[in-house]
This record gives sequence, C-alpha cells and structure tokens, in this order.
Amino acid sequence: MVDYPKDHTEEVHASQPSHYRVLEKVFCKSHFTPEDSILDIGCGKGRILAYFTEMGFKGKLTGVELKSDIVAVCKQWTKAYPNIQVIEGNVLDLNPNEYTVMVMYNPFGEDVLLKLLEKMEQELTHPIQLYYLSDHLYGNHINGRPGWTLKHRGWIWKDGIYYLHWTPQRCSWWEYTPVKES
Ligand SMILES: C[S@@+](CC[C@H](N)C(=O)[O-])C[C@H]1O[C@@H](n2cnc3c(N)ncnc32)[C@H](O)[C@@H]1O
Repeated sequence: MVDYPKDHTEEVHASQPSHYRVLEKVFCKSHFTPEDSILDIGCGKGRILAYFTEMGFKGKLTGVELKSDIVAVCKQWTKAYPNIQVIEGNVLDLNPNEYTVMVMYNPFGEDVLLKLLEKMEQELTHPIQLYYLSDHLYGNHINGRPGWTLKHRGWIWKDGIYYLHWTPQRCSWWEYTPVKES
C-alpha cells in the first residue's frame, strides 16, 4: 500500500519536490531559447523554476500552484528573479497560449489531467512541448489523442547505486500541434 503524505488527495497531489538529477535526465536532450516561455504546472516551492534558473535559462518562467502556504515560499525566493512569475491558482484558469513549454511532476489525478488536455486542445493556437514527470499513473490518457506526438518516454529510478525514487517512475516528453478543423 502506498503511504501518501497528508496533503495528498486524488484531485490535488502532495507537494513533493522533484529531484535535480531527475530533471537533468528528463531535459538532457532538450534545447530551450530565451523566446521560450516555460510553465511549471503545480510548482510547489519552485524546484523546477530553480533548476531552469540554475541552468541559465533566460526566457520567461512561470509557476502556478494551488496551495497558498507553499506558493508563498515560492514567491519569496523568486522575487529576486525578474523573469519568474509565480501565480497562486489553478492551472485550469490560465491561458495556455502564453507558454511554449509546460512541465508537470505528478500534480493531479486523471479527472484534472483530462480537463487540462481538453482545455489545451480547445484553446492552443501554437505548438507546445509538454514534459510529464511520473506519467506512469495517468500518462496513457495522452496516447493516441489527435495532435499529440510522443518524442520520448522512459523510466527513471536509480543513478548508479543511488535511488532517485522509491520505485521506478516513467517520464514523457510530448509535442502538441493544434489540429486544424476541416
Ligand atoms: C508533486 S508537486 C511538484 C512540485 C514541483 N513542480 C516540483 O517538481 O518540485 C505537485 C504540485 O501540484 C500542485 N497542484 C495540484 N493541482 C494543481 C492545479 N490544478 N493547479 C495548480 N497546482 C496544482 C500541488 O498542490 C503540488 O504542490
């Protein structure tokens, strides 16, 4: 049985930071430019924003987070970085066209995921990249949807003798291109 932290529900998953080494593995084949606008869906205290900052990313970085106590921590440290915006709120209320790259580390269950996919498919007017960390639970919902191309999917567990996760976690990298209605 999985022993979830207290702040975990099916709709809003627990706030757990991703591991820097996992992020290195996920993004090692990707290239971002200052024209990119990256959204971390469920940014928590901002580990993914910190990773991109550390990597020297100069474009726009946005984090959105539902939990006010956690988002306050993220807002506090990111104040020093003019290219970072942190929004307290629900990703379902954002305009997806403001971003070219979206990243999410296991933020929610399948109901919210399906709503987000439908919203993106209805509203996006340009292609975006989506990185989904720990997608083994619900990521198969993206398979076969019109407009979605899987660029990479793989498992992350150990790094040598060092465990990055308790159990293997699958991660995926997608490109979504809006489907023209005929
Ligand atoms: C596993 S944590 C990941 C934190 C951070 N992205 C990282 O990788 O270190 C997932 C976060 O998503 C947030 N979340 C869940 N549903 C959300 C929603 N609909 N909109 C915004 N944030 C959400 C949760 O509150 C939680 O803090």
